[in-house]
Amino acid sequence: MPEATETLAKRLRRQAVWCAELDSPLYASLLESAADDLGLEGPVWAVLEGFQEEPGSAALALRLMGAVHRLVLDDTLSDLAAHYPSTGGDGDPSTAWPVFRQALIDHRSEIRALLGTGCQTNEVGRSAALVGGFLEVAHRTGLPLCILEIGASAGLNLLWDRYRYESAEGAWGDEASPVRFTHSYVIPPPLNRQATVIKRMGCDLHPIDPASDAGSLALRSFIWADQLGRLALLDGAIEIAREMPAVVEQADAADFLQRELARQVPDVATVVFHSVFMQYVDEAGRRRIEAVISEARRSASRDSPIFHLRLEPGMTGEARFEIRLDEELLGTSLAHGTGVRWVVDSSAL
Ligand SMILES: C[S@@+](CC[C@H](N)C(=O)[O-])C[C@H]1O[C@@H](n2cnc3c(N)ncnc32)[C@H](O)[C@@H]1O
Repeated sequence: MPEATETLAKRLRRQAVWCAELDSPLYASLLESAADDLGLEGPVWAVLEGFQEEPGSAALALRLMGAVHRLVLDDTLSDLAAHYPSTGGDGDPSTAWPVFRQALIDHRSEIRALLGTGCQTNEVGRSAALVGGFLEVAHRTGLPLCILEIGASAGLNLLWDRYRYESAEGAWGDEASPVRFTHSYVIPPPLNRQATVIKRMGCDLHPIDPASDAGSLALRSFIWADQLGRLALLDGAIEIAREMPAVVEQADAADFLQRELARQVPDVATVVFHSVFMQYVDEAGRRRIEAVISEARRSASRDSPIFHLRLEPGMTGEARFEIRLDEELLGTSLAHGTGVRWVVDSSAL
C-alpha cells in the first residue's frame, strides 16, 4: 500500500478501535470498512486524498464521520439515515457500509469541504468529569467561582452548574434539569458540596451558537450516530443554552486569558478550564497558554486565587483521560466523561 494511503488507513483503524472501546459498534465497523477501502484506492481515498499531511491529532477520522453524519441529519443522505440510529435507523453496519461508500462517491466535494473545518464537538458528558474539580475549588476556598473556558466550542460545559449529577453516594444539581448524568461514576467525586458560579465566559477560534439551527446541526453531527444517550445530553444542554447562553467569544485562548486573568476580582476564585483542547493547539500556542496561566497564578493575590482545571489525554497513551487541578491528579475518565474514577480525598481539607 502506498505510504499516504497507509498513513490514512492507520488513522481510521486507530479511531475504529477507540469507537469500539467507547461503545460505538456502528462507527467502529464503518471506519474499519473505510480503512479497507483505502487500500483499494476507492471513494474513501478520493475523499481523504491530501489530508494525510495533517498531524494525527487533527482527528480526521472523526471529521469524516461528522461530515457524513451532518448530511444524514440534514436529510441529504436519506438512504443512509435508514441505517443511522440518530435518525431512527437500524444501526446495522453491514447494510450501512455500501450506502456510506456510495454517499462518498455522490457527495465527494461537499464532504471534502466539510472536512476542511475543525473537529467542533462540544461534549456535554465532560461536565460529569469536571464537576468534581469545580466543587473541589469551591470547597477548598469557600469562595464563589468565576469560570473561564478555553476552546469552549458552544460553551455547553460552561453551564455545568445547570446539570444534575447522580452517583451511588450522592447527587448534585437541579433535579428537574434536562441534562441528567446517572451513569458517569465508577468512583464518584464528593458531591455534597456547595458552589456558586458568579461569572462564566469562554473563547473559541470558531464559536458555535447552540441556539441557532446551524449551530445545533453542527454539534449534533459530531455525536456518534449510534450513541443516543450522548445525543440526549446534548439536546438537553442546547435547551438550557437557549434560555441561558454562555458567552463564548471568538478569540485565541492565550489572548483571551491574558486579558481576562488581568481582571482580578477580590473574594472570587477563578477557574481556567479546558477539555480535549490542547491537542488542537500547536506547540508554540501551548507554551503561551501555559506561560499566561503560570504568570497569572504567581501574581494572584490570596483573596482572588486562580486555578487550572482540565480534562485531557493522559501521558501514558492509555484510553483514560486525566482530570487535573493545577499539578494534582483528581481523577480519570474515558474520553467523553464517563467511567469517572476519583482518586483524591480532600474531605479533611
Ligand atoms: C475537540 S473541541 C473540544 C470542545 C470542548 N472543550 C469539549 O470538550 O467539548 C476543541 C475546540 O478547541 C478550539 N480551539 C482550537 N485551538 C484553539 C485556540 N488556539 N484558541 C481557542 N480555541 C481553540 C476548536 O475550535 C474546538 O472548538
